[in-house]
Amino acid sequence: MKTILTGDRPTGPLHLGHYVGSLENRAGLQREYATYLLIADVQALTDHADEPELVRRNVVEVALDYLAVGIDPAVATIVVQSGVPELAELTIYYLNLVTVARLGRNPTVKEEMQQKGFGADVPAGFFVYPVSQAADITAFKADVVPVGEDQLPMIEQTVEIVRRFNRLYGSTLVEPTALVSKHPRLPGTEGQSKMGKSLGNAIFLSDSPDVLSKKVMGMYTDPRHVRADLPGTVKGNPVFSYLDAFDPDEAAVAELKRRYRAGGLGDVAVKRRLIEVLDVFLAPIRTRRSALARDPAAVERILREGTARGRAVARQTLAEVRRALHLDR
Ligand code: TRP
Repeated sequence: MKTILTGDRPTGPLHLGHYVGSLENRAGLQREYATYLLIADVQALTDHADEPELVRRNVVEVALDYLAVGIDPAVATIVVQSGVPELAELTIYYLNLVTVARLGRNPTVKEEMQQKGFGADVPAGFFVYPVSQAADITAFKADVVPVGEDQLPMIEQTVEIVRRFNRLYGSTLVEPTALVSKHPRLPGTEGQSKMGKSLGNAIFLSDSPDVLSKKVMGMYTDPRHVRADLPGTVKGNPVFSYLDAFDPDEAAVAELKRRYRAGGLGDVAVKRRLIEVLDVFLAPIRTRRSALARDPAAVERILREGTARGRAVARQTLAEVRRALHLDR
């Protein structure tokens, strides 16, 4: 059986972008692959060093989101990163296989640094997080990493580290491949950037029906579509991107697009349809989530058991790495 590893930083609850970008793939593949889902609390501290309580709280939120979308802890293993210190040791060894210049070229890190306004004051831990991510991926000997498009540069860097390691020290690590979903980039509700946890443009899996309809009603559409009878633009209109991603009735979406383009279909009508579609999608997720949230001890048990199973795998890989590095006396 091949292995999947992927993860999320617990800095907030997960949203629709996570679902179409990666969660859907993970839930769908958990029975075909040995699946490890890493709640990357150590990585979360690389840009939230001043908010450890927030990270701790969100470990549980992310676990609830996983379980609510159908991750089955009887088949998939949910691992809390801080419970696997072997990952930190692997990171130290891999840091010797990467240059500062190469890290500086990682486009996702560059973009995040800009977003966060880090500039030259970037925390060193944040700057090197692609290396710790290589440790996460290789510790579990992952073959496949289901991720959103923004994480592709991490997989690329991981592959470089794996090749370098195997060439220098003998074949030890497994080269991973990324698996990107068919809707890789869901735009935010404001239609400008991709949906992000902390950008104020996300619809969360845990949003109540009320919050959901407020967010959809406030969504950006075609700014020139000021009256229902005017023709509207579908391209770049996030309301239609969400329908494409979540409405199972493709023919109905095609018909709505046709009417919108022709003129005569108002934004409010399309948004009402989207609220309906998202409510149908989110209702069972909400139900499962609130049932699980009432039993925090059960969630903690799932995390403890998953982390123990994950740690055993990472320990094995670390032993092989230490042997390859001649550190095994
Ligand atoms: N960087 C990912 C994020 O921003 C989280 C993550 C940590 C991850 N380790 C990983 C993703 C390993 C894939 C594989 O959410």
